[in-house]
Amino acid sequence: MFPVFQPESPQAQAIFDLFVTVLQISTAIFTIVAVLIVVAVWRGRRRSALPKQAFGDHRTEMVWIAGPLVVLVWITAISANLVLTINAVPKVHLEQAEAGAADITVTGHQWWWEIAYSDSGLVSANEIYLPTGKRLRVKLQSADVIHCFWVPQLARKMDAIPGRENYIWLEANRPGVYQGRCAEYCGTQHAWMNFKVYALSPSDYARWQAKAGRAPADPAEADALAGERLFFSLTCANCHTVRGTRADATIGPDLTDIASRKELGGGVLENSRENLTRWLKDPQSVKPGSKMPNFQLNDEHVRQLVAYLESLD
Ligand code: CUA
Repeated sequence: MFPVFQPESPQAQAIFDLFVTVLQISTAIFTIVAVLIVVAVWRGRRRSALPKQAFGDHRTEMVWIAGPLVVLVWITAISANLVLTINAVPKVHLEQAEAGAADITVTGHQWWWEIAYSDSGLVSANEIYLPTGKRLRVKLQSADVIHCFWVPQLARKMDAIPGRENYIWLEANRPGVYQGRCAEYCGTQHAWMNFKVYALSPSDYARWQAKAGRAPADPAEADALAGERLFFSLTCANCHTVRGTRADATIGPDLTDIASRKELGGGVLENSRENLTRWLKDPQSVKPGSKMPNFQLNDEHVRQLVAYLESLD
C-alpha cells in the first residue's frame, strides 16, 4: 500500500479524509456524466441524422454554470479550511511560535537532511526521533536549493527554501518507523535524499534523549585512535563536526552519532562496517555528485577511519 493511504497522525488522517471526500465527489460526477453519455449513445444508436439541436436555453445554462461552481467552491473551502486547521498554532505552542523557535530544526542540503534538536543540542542527519502523541514544531530551512520535506504518513509537505524559514507540525500516533523523502527535484541525487522518522514511546524517547545529549567517549581502541588522528590530518574536520572535539564544520553531516545511525548518505546504504568502508573508499561511486570527495585512502587508513567512526555513538 502507498504510505499516503496509511495515515499515522491526526494531521495525516485529516489530509487522507479530505482526499477521500474529494474522491467521492469526483466519483459521483464521473458516474453521472458517464451514465448520461451511455444513455445518449444508446438512444441515438439507430439515427443517421443529427438529433434536434437546442440553443439559448438560459435555465439549462444557469444550471451548467451554477452546478460546477458550487462543487468547486465547496472543494476549495474544505481544502482551505484543512490547511488553516493543520497550520494553526495550538495555545501551548504560542510563545514558542512567537519567538520563531522550534523543537527540531531541519536543514535541507544537497543531498541530505541536517536534524538539530533544541533540547539536547544533538545535530544528526537523515534520522528524526520523536515521542509518540506529542506535537513537535519543526523549522525547515535550506543550505542551498529548494527541497521539500515530506513524511506522507505523518504530515503535510513543506518546502525548505534558502533564506526562508517554514514551519510544520510533526506528530505520530504510534511507535514506528516512517519514511520521509525530499519531494522537490533538487539535483542529481534528489532520489537519495531520504530520511526516516523514528517514533518512540515516551519512555523509550526519554532514554534516547539522555543518550543524545552526551558527546561520544574518546576512542579507546588503537585503530580508532589512529583513525581519530587521521580524521584531523586528512581535513575531514574541515567539513564535519564531532561534538566534544575541535571538529565543528557544517558543510557535511555532523558525525557525533554516526555509529548510532541506521543508514548512510540519505538512505543510499545501510550503516554497516562494510558499507562505511565502501563509502570512504569511493563515495562518488556510491553517490555520484555528492560533496564527499574521494581521498584515495589506502586500506589501512580506511580501516582506522571506520574504527574511529564506529566509536562515535
Ligand atoms: Cu532535496 Cu530533492
